[in-house]
Amino acid sequence: MRPFLFHTKEYAKKMQQPSLKLNDGHAIPQLGFGVFLAKNGGETRQAVTAALEAGYRHIDTAAVYGNESDVGEALAASGLKRDEVFVTTKLWNDDVRAGNTRKALETSLKLLKLDYVDLYLIHWPAEGYEKAWTEMVKLRDEGLIRSVGVSNFHIHHLEHLRTVSDVIPACDQVESHPYLGQIHLLDYCRLHGIVMEAWSPLGGAKSKGALLNDPLINSIAKRLNKSPAQVLIAWQLQRGVVVLPKSVHAERITANAQVFDIKFTDAELIALQNANRHQRFGSDPENFNF
Ligand code: A2P
Repeated sequence: MRPFLFHTKEYAKKMQQPSLKLNDGHAIPQLGFGVFLAKNGGETRQAVTAALEAGYRHIDTAAVYGNESDVGEALAASGLKRDEVFVTTKLWNDDVRAGNTRKALETSLKLLKLDYVDLYLIHWPAEGYEKAWTEMVKLRDEGLIRSVGVSNFHIHHLEHLRTVSDVIPACDQVESHPYLGQIHLLDYCRLHGIVMEAWSPLGGAKSKGALLNDPLINSIAKRLNKSPAQVLIAWQLQRGVVVLPKSVHAERITANAQVFDIKFTDAELIALQNANRHQRFGSDPENFNF
């Protein structure tokens, strides 16, 4: 493991990372590092190590990604204090359906080598998510989770949850990029004190670079002397969304975090909002078969 701790604090300070306040009083760093499709057994460990070195202080994983143990190893080796890094993981659909919330969380904590997670999310609105939510709130009250939230919930799922629990999710993590701006959901979240998080902010691997090659994104990148990826990340930051870019390449990981100086013009913000085409590269929470 490369020694990097001597300069991480300095980096993190220099990055002046913004954070958002959650509805339960905790803070969430607005830039997070996603590890979906990063392989266990070295790739994820190296990527998370590179991310921590580059100053990220928020790691987003999930039980189903199969890489929680690598994330745990990278965190342990970093030497960072527990409260210096925000860690999210997610309850997988099979465990939602089977009513296995407590067991699933305990397994995740063991793999991550942590006593608690900062944020635990219901990964998809699978059958039984109401019961899982009630369990998660109990586990939060026991101290195993700091904040509870959901992922891939539409407005109607959030509305339904309100009928079964007084606890409003701290976050809703959904696919979002300029082709899927999620404007209505974002408005709803703002109204109800829910922080929206964006997965696949670059379009993800399935988009085959559609957003990274988009002419509008490229013209804005050119004006700013930044890369298209940096434009896509900064856009989410500027509209108050937590953004979770993923990469397994150290130079991209570092570049993706150099976005805090970007300021869009009003015309650019309007153009980015108008780029919405309701286009998903991932599954629709209305109709998923896993
Ligand atoms: P890789 O992991 O090989 O770097 P998203 O964050 O939307 O899920 O997108 C992740 C995809 O975008 C991955 O395929 C990742 O590839 C790629 N990617 C991440 N950062 C960049 C970048 N700065 N430029 C180009 N592609 C990137």
